[in-house]
Amino acid sequence: MVSKSCEGMFDDVIDQIVPDDSELRKERSIAESIIESIRKAVPHGCEVVLVGSVAKGTFLKGSNDLDIFILFDRKIGKDCLKSSIIRIMEKAFPGKGYQLNYAEHPYLRFHCLGRKVDLVPAYRIANAEYIASSVDRSVLHTGYVLENLSEEQRVDVILLKSLLKAYSLYGAEIKIQGFSGYLCELLIISCRTFQGLMHRASIWKEPVFFDPADHYKDENQPLDRFKGPLIIIDPTDRKRNVAAALSRENFKKFVRISRFILKNKDSRTFLRKPKTFRQKVSSAKRRNIIYLITMPRPDVVDDVLWGQIHKLMSQLRSELSDFQPGKLFADDLQGIRIAVPLKKDILQDTEEIEGPPLYMTEHVSKFRDAHRSAGLFERDGRLIALRKRKNKTAHSAIELFFSRYSEKDSHLSYPIERIDIRCLDDPSVL
Ligand code: CTP
Ligand code: MG
Repeated sequence: MVSKSCEGMFDDVIDQIVPDDSELRKERSIAESIIESIRKAVPHGCEVVLVGSVAKGTFLKGSNDLDIFILFDRKIGKDCLKSSIIRIMEKAFPGKGYQLNYAEHPYLRFHCLGRKVDLVPAYRIANAEYIASSVDRSVLHTGYVLENLSEEQRVDVILLKSLLKAYSLYGAEIKIQGFSGYLCELLIISCRTFQGLMHRASIWKEPVFFDPADHYKDENQPLDRFKGPLIIIDPTDRKRNVAAALSRENFKKFVRISRFILKNKDSRTFLRKPKTFRQKVSSAKRRNIIYLITMPRPDVVDDVLWGQIHKLMSQLRSELSDFQPGKLFADDLQGIRIAVPLKKDILQDTEEIEGPPLYMTEHVSKFRDAHRSAGLFERDGRLIALRKRKNKTAHSAIELFFSRYSEKDSHLSYPIERIDIRCLDDPSVL
């Protein structure tokens, strides 16, 4: 049995998503046995520690990936970290397969005793002032949460995580632009309970500011230093906003979800599977014409890829403004697929270009010269040019966009022949 929170409100779902004591003990003992093998392989002076949600007890039942950090002394150069963890891995688990990943920082991923393990090199630091690499704070985060999160709050963090997962809002990576595990923990600590958070969030107006460790209590305008709709000061580092990755759109979505939860106390919401690409296309298709763009997936790390996908989608959307686009969305499971919902597919042959008011004679004559080939007429005291439209159809406008995009410095700049653009009649073919 896990101790319940939320005044008994979501008891049935809590049993399904929160690991009980025996599962917690089991995960920690598996972690400990893996850590023991690593300890025997590290050079003198290195420490091996468990961080992340298994250490904090905030993992969802069954989502038991392990985050194991090797803490090096600051004397070890950054350029040695990669070779050091490879050496340690090969000594601790001879012959075992692993993957070397590199985002901004190197780490190894492997599987052991049925668990996915991330082995991350970091520096041992006493506080955030001495940070040398981006992941050094993780150990401080784990310590802070262990000290400040109660048993009831641990359950509430897991409820929050499963709610965010159901709506594809969990994760601080660029693809998601949502809430990290640590952000969930700090929100529950700051609002005391899951219900408390829902009540607060339902009336959030950006910017929302939390400072759980009171770093800025003596300052007048701490908000000016940070950007973004939600600012939650890292208790272990006053210079950092833990919610920096959250997009404005996802902030608003979270506010809507919290209102929904307060109104519909339905446990099933927490167990919903996030919508697939195909489901999103089907629901957008009810009110829009859908263009589907498919291209190969470039071999780059997710954060780089999704940074470029978001940029491309926002440029494409503004390029197609005459076709009244809705929100574009994408996935990267079968190549890159981008769905473009539009209200209009074909525009009139001509488009109007609004000119200057007639009394601005100099501007008017310049406008006449510039649009000599177009039809000109006056309306409401202004000169208007009626020009033949270059891209009457959404298809040709999208094609033109991608032929120009092929010149850009992006991993998504393909020759137009490698991009498939089609109007989607039947989403079930996806
Ligand atoms: N971390 C990291 N590099 C990785 C994996 C994790 O630096 N390859 C660090 C993160 O910066 C974070 C901590 O390890 O501080 C845990 O990360 P993550 O697994 O994303 O969050 P958890 O709190 O463990 O939440 P969960 O696994 O339940 O999503
Ligand atoms: Mg983790």
